[in-house]
Amino acid sequence: MDYSKFFSKNLPATVDMPQGLRADTEHIFSVTNAVPQLIDAGAYAEAMSSVLAREASSLAGYPGMKGHEGLRGVIADELQDKRGVSADIDDIFLSDGAGGAIRKIVDAFIDPGDVVLAEEFTYSGTLNMLLGKRAEVVHVQSDEDGMNTDALEQAVRDLTAAGRKPKFIYTIPVYQNPTGATLSLKRRRRMLAIAAEYDIPIVENESYADFRIDGEPLPPAMLGLDDNGLVIYVSSYTKLLGCGLRVGFCVAPQQVQDVLGGGMPSQLATMMIYEYLRNHKAEHVEAVRRELLARRDALLAALGENFPSDCEFSTPHGGMMGWVKLPEHADTWAALDSAVEAGVKYNPGGIYRATRDRNNHLRLTFSHNTAEEIYDGVATLADVFQRGGLFG
Ligand SMILES: Cc1ncc(COP(=O)(O)O)c(C=O)c1O
Repeated sequence: MDYSKFFSKNLPATVDMPQGLRADTEHIFSVTNAVPQLIDAGAYAEAMSSVLAREASSLAGYPGMKGHEGLRGVIADELQDKRGVSADIDDIFLSDGAGGAIRKIVDAFIDPGDVVLAEEFTYSGTLNMLLGKRAEVVHVQSDEDGMNTDALEQAVRDLTAAGRKPKFIYTIPVYQNPTGATLSLKRRRRMLAIAAEYDIPIVENESYADFRIDGEPLPPAMLGLDDNGLVIYVSSYTKLLGCGLRVGFCVAPQQVQDVLGGGMPSQLATMMIYEYLRNHKAEHVEAVRRELLARRDALLAALGENFPSDCEFSTPHGGMMGWVKLPEHADTWAALDSAVEAGVKYNPGGIYRATRDRNNHLRLTFSHNTAEEIYDGVATLADVFQRGGLFG
């Protein structure tokens, strides 16, 4: 049967993505997976078994809209201790990953032609949802301190002068995906002031807040600095405990929650995470930190040894990705097929831009591969780029 005549007229717009990202390769630098070796089968099984011993019968019914109350309590405590946020458990709802919450926000806020402001490069998952809804994403110049708030204000002024009001500012202010930058405290305050002055919500995605490797402690979340209900906050446990668990969360004013509805992740997964975090969170975060430190250093060393000196990369102090800039003429989107043939895949810079440009950049993640695999994969990639004429 040809189903095309049955599909909705409102399907998301098709968004251009490189085919090579679908290929299976030996070295995968394109995904932000949890560290595979730190998925502790025994500890997960023990957490599942103890929580089921207490709460199994709760699985008979449908979970409440906001999800498992115990886990929301753990999240409220963590937000208070680590991110300077006072949230009531009723301000929080659980979602199927951060991505599930973002999907709800995009669906609830965006009509075709709406404007969203985002960093100069921004996470492709959210970007593709926005482009799928035919939003116009305006990228704001950004640097190692995150989004440039002078440029943000100018963009808002220009849009206002043209009679256009942005639907929201979308920002990943900690260990940004893909650049690794963290928004400075000064800029956080300024972004909040701009949002208040021009009456624009902020969608703050802190999915990487648990992944500090070294360097300065993180500034508080904007959600914690906000007195005006401007911030909708999303985060996730997928990168920490396993992407397959599909559990994240959102903190939003009640008026917004009433429209978004609950996120409805698996109650079983949230119960297990609740039990595991209560007993193992601190040690797990530290184990991940140590592993990411070794893998990041392997990536930086491998890049230093194999990439020529006209390539630039900074040291990410958290998160799980390195951001590399090649000479202007390089086209990492076009080169992906050759890399895939050689057994390596990575994300070209263009997938983080609405206009699919700036492909002299690429993102290499380091959470998935061991240090040895990182050395091998980067050497192979350098060879592909050398042969393809991407280097100087
Ligand atoms: C910034 C950011 N937000 C959201 C997601 C999606 O995460 P989840 O698996 O929790 O849906 C990712 C995954 O890469 C991400 O990097």
